Amino acid sequence: MFLSEIKKKLSNNFLTNGVETPELDARLVLKEVLSFDDKDLILKENHDISEELTKKIFAIEARRLRGEPISKIFKKRDFFKSTFIISNDVLDPRPETELIVEIANNFIKKNKVKNILDLGTGSGCILLSVLKENKMINGLGIDLSKEAINIALKNSKKLQLDKQSNFLISNWMSSINFRYDIVVSNPPYIASTDIKKLAEDVKSYDPLLSLDGGDDGLNCYRAIAKDLKRIINKNAIIIVEIGYNQSISVIEIFKKNDFKLIKKYNDINGLDRVLTFQ
Ligand SMILES: C[S@@+](CC[C@H](N)C(=O)[O-])C[C@H]1O[C@@H](n2cnc3c(N)ncnc32)[C@H](O)[C@@H]1O
Repeated sequence: MFLSEIKKKLSNNFLTNGVETPELDARLVLKEVLSFDDKDLILKENHDISEELTKKIFAIEARRLRGEPISKIFKKRDFFKSTFIISNDVLDPRPETELIVEIANNFIKKNKVKNILDLGTGSGCILLSVLKENKMINGLGIDLSKEAINIALKNSKKLQLDKQSNFLISNWMSSINFRYDIVVSNPPYIASTDIKKLAEDVKSYDPLLSLDGGDDGLNCYRAIAKDLKRIINKNAIIIVEIGYNQSISVIEIFKKNDFKLIKKYNDINGLDRVLTFQ
């Protein structure tokens, strides 16, 4: 079958079956299976693709149509400026979380920073992206999931950041007795009862531990804010991602624990998505 035909068939099938980004997903499948880049996909449209590869492409299409995200099929996902190894044991890194990396990088440019702590590190995407841009600082990523820590360790080696980073299995900061200049976190923030309303490719493929924020979705902010003072330096900055409607409640939780709101940052839809505190 010609590449142009396969491309058309894939995008059409994705579109008619409700895949959110049909063209993009089709391109990702073809690039990965054929080892092509974006330019090849255009210049080699008239190539006759072997039966074996065509079969492989449509087998992947079937998995995607059953709800499996492309990133979970190929076990990797681009985030900020790197490609991260992922698995069903970690949250798929989301583009909106890149905002945390940008805020941390700006803070490091203007302040004396030695170290950074990432609470609920998952794949390690936030911590490792910051460390990659800032070679003079060290970081610790913690997660309750042993499997997530194994993936984060793999990513630190792949990105050659294993000398700058450490990873630890811990219930938030309970096993930490050290102080940090930056604390970042994208904790689970979906209310338990809302999990069933999430899209299939989220609720079935991201681990529950990475999504479930308890009855009102705010339990992790409460747990983190309560114990934070003990592990931060005097002028440390706290950078947290929040759910689209949680701004007021999360600010209240941090205020109750003596933290001052520095700034609210919007996502592309104009909703508060990241908060910083001192
Ligand atoms: C929303 S995911 C964020 C993953 C990654 N930082 C990212 O932004 O893609 C939240 C992470 O918090 C971890 N987590 C949940 N409860 C935790 C706890 N009590 N202590 C430490 N980590 C926890 C989960 O395992 C998950 O990896």
